[in-house]
Amino acid sequence: MLRPPYQSYDRLYVYHLDKADILAFDDPDLIGIWIEDETAVLFFHRAKDSLVAELCARHGCNLIYQADLDYCDWEAGLFISSFTVGGVTVSPVWEKGRADIRLDPSVIFGSGFHPTTRVCLETVIHYMQTPEAAIKTMLDLGTGTGLLSIAAARFGAEKITAVDNNPLACAVARANCRLNQVNEQVDIREMDLRKDKLHTSGYNLIVANLYRGLLEQLIQTPSFWEGGIYILSGFLQSMEADLLAELPAGQIRFLDRKQSDRWCIWVLGNRKVIG
Ligand SMILES: C[S@@+](CC[C@H](N)C(=O)[O-])C[C@H]1O[C@@H](n2cnc3c(N)ncnc32)[C@H](O)[C@@H]1O
Repeated sequence: MLRPPYQSYDRLYVYHLDKADILAFDDPDLIGIWIEDETAVLFFHRAKDSLVAELCARHGCNLIYQADLDYCDWEAGLFISSFTVGGVTVSPVWEKGRADIRLDPSVIFGSGFHPTTRVCLETVIHYMQTPEAAIKTMLDLGTGTGLLSIAAARFGAEKITAVDNNPLACAVARANCRLNQVNEQVDIREMDLRKDKLHTSGYNLIVANLYRGLLEQLIQTPSFWEGGIYILSGFLQSMEADLLAELPAGQIRFLDRKQSDRWCIWVLGNRKVIG
C-alpha cells in the first residue's frame, strides 16, 4: 500500500521467502507482504537485500527468488491509469482530476486492467442499476483491491461482505473502502474459501472472480447455492463445458454470458431464490 512519502509506484523489489510466519516488522519502504501457501512474498519500493538477509537469519528461512521490476510490468506491461466502465470512472490515487472511485491498486489483483475485473465491474453496475434485481446485499468472493464492492456500495448496496485469503488484499481493500467512504457498508474478512465455511444465504448478489479449481469447489458445494444472482468469472472459454456440467441441474437459470479476450463471465440466477 502507498504510505507517505510514496504517492505512486515506480519500481518493485520483490523477495519470496520459504516461510510464512515472519514476525511483524516495519520498514519505510515496505509496500506489503503476501502470505501464500506457507511462504511470504515481500514487496518494497527500494532494494532491501541486507534487511531480507537479516530476516532470513533471524527466522531461519531462505530466499526462494528475488526480482526487481517496473510497476507496469507487474501489471503485464500496462501503465495503470483512469478508465470508465458503465459510466463510472475509476482512477489510481496518483492521478488528479474527477473520479467516481479512487483506488490504490498496490500489488493486488483488481486494478481494473484485467478483462475479468472490467466485465465483472460492468455487470455489478448493471445489476445495481436494475430495479427489478433489487440488490441490497452482496458477497464479493476474492475481493482483491475491493473495487467491485466499492462500486456496489456507490450504487446503494447496504451490506457487502468481501472476503480474500490474502491478508495484504484485505488491508488494501479496507484502505480503498475508507478512501471511498464506503467502509460502513463493506465488511472485509480474511477467509480461505478452500477451507472456511461460506454462508451465501441472504445475499442478493454474489460475485466470484476466482480461478477454475476454486470455482469448481464452490459450484459443487450445495450451501453455495443459497444466494440470488451469481456473477462467476476467472475461467477461459475452453473450461466452460466442464464447469457447465458441474452446475446443479434444474436449479440454475442462465441470465447472461459475456466474454472478453478468452475470459468468460457467467451470470446465473438461483431459481430457489429468484424464481
Ligand atoms: C482474480 S482476483 C479477483 C479480484 C477482484 N475481485 C477483481 O475482480 O478484480 C482473485 C482474488 O481471489 C483471492 N483468492 C484466491 N484464492 C482464494 C481463496 N482460497 N480464498 C479467498 N480468496 C482467494 C485472491 O487473493 C485474489 O485477490
